[in-house]
Amino acid sequence: MLQRSINLRGLVLFSRYGHSFSKFFTPQAASSLQAVAEPATYRGDDEYADLNWDDLGFGLVPTDYMYIMKCSDNEKFSPGELNRFGKIELSPASGILNHGQGLFEGLKACRKEDGRVLLFRPEQNAMRMKMGAERMCMPSPSVEQFIDALKQTVLANKRWVPPPGKGSLYLRPLLMGSGAMLGLAPAPECTFILFASPVGNYFQEGKAPIKLLVEDECHRAMPGGTGGVKSISNYAPVLKAQTRAKSKGFSDVLFLDSMTNKYLEEVASCNIFIVKDNTVSTPATRGTILPGITRKSIINIASDHGYQVEERPIPVEDLLEADEVFCTGTAVVVAPVGSVTYQGKRVEYRTGDGSVARKLYSTLTDIQRGLIEDKMGWTVEVD
Ligand code: COI
Repeated sequence: MLQRSINLRGLVLFSRYGHSFSKFFTPQAASSLQAVAEPATYRGDDEYADLNWDDLGFGLVPTDYMYIMKCSDNEKFSPGELNRFGKIELSPASGILNHGQGLFEGLKACRKEDGRVLLFRPEQNAMRMKMGAERMCMPSPSVEQFIDALKQTVLANKRWVPPPGKGSLYLRPLLMGSGAMLGLAPAPECTFILFASPVGNYFQEGKAPIKLLVEDECHRAMPGGTGGVKSISNYAPVLKAQTRAKSKGFSDVLFLDSMTNKYLEEVASCNIFIVKDNTVSTPATRGTILPGITRKSIINIASDHGYQVEERPIPVEDLLEADEVFCTGTAVVVAPVGSVTYQGKRVEYRTGDGSVARKLYSTLTDIQRGLIEDKMGWTVEVD
């Protein structure tokens, strides 16, 4: 019975994604229902992977498949395909290794109570990758290609989508200059790779409030730079400040603007919000701050809940006088901040039941998990 249902499902998948899966089948198997169900290649989408779902953090758990597509004419990406998840071969002279010509994205797939899987605003990631690609002189997949890649990758790795309420399948699209060259120029070939990993809480604190340190020596971005796109080169430079802060017991660092060192920018891994009375504020994105998709969604949700929402330059003094502070991001979702330390002064904030952050978190995650009506049309079902 089980064998037959897997076979039938395999047939549906094979007919839909025949070219993608075909490399894992012998020519004989490609036309045979039996071989499509080969356990090593596809296990049937009603099975779960053998994992302790109660113990998910934000570490890489290798899944079954990754998706790859390439562009060699600097215009259109050729149709891509699923490959077994694994190592990739790259020229030592590739643009990404030598000049940091690369971008990444992050988004999540959640399993609903009825077993169906939802993506959250995938077209926003596709469009943000396009913007970033333009800044980094790379071609980018079309929105349709991007979403198709996501759907194929989620379906092929469906057994890794955590049970409802236990976490999500984090999807990591990468765009890189994979072509080889020596002088500084856009790489002659670009590759898009998409891999997936089941995840739970980002911070080791779990859902408990995090502790932030305001960094006033290193900066994350400068006007005219790449802070406003998801370039890979934005991330390694924060590691020094972050590692220093973590060694002192902080969860992460909050960066200030590089021109005056007075205004909030973003946390190493996410955006920041402050709450004062009925007003929810977040730094305006003016090229140095990543336009987060969770940030954008929380701005909408907060307005819907009746808060006054402001995107504005936020001086560090406002942070110190806030009632609440929270972070947003795909990985961190909505993370309450318990304390901020700035120049040796520690300020504590309201958190927990009744907090604005808790309310916004609940609405956002209820939409993502399909528990409440998605009035905005943000979720996309993977079918
Ligand atoms: C995400 O939230 O998806 C990110 O890309 C942040 C990353 C540092 C984990």
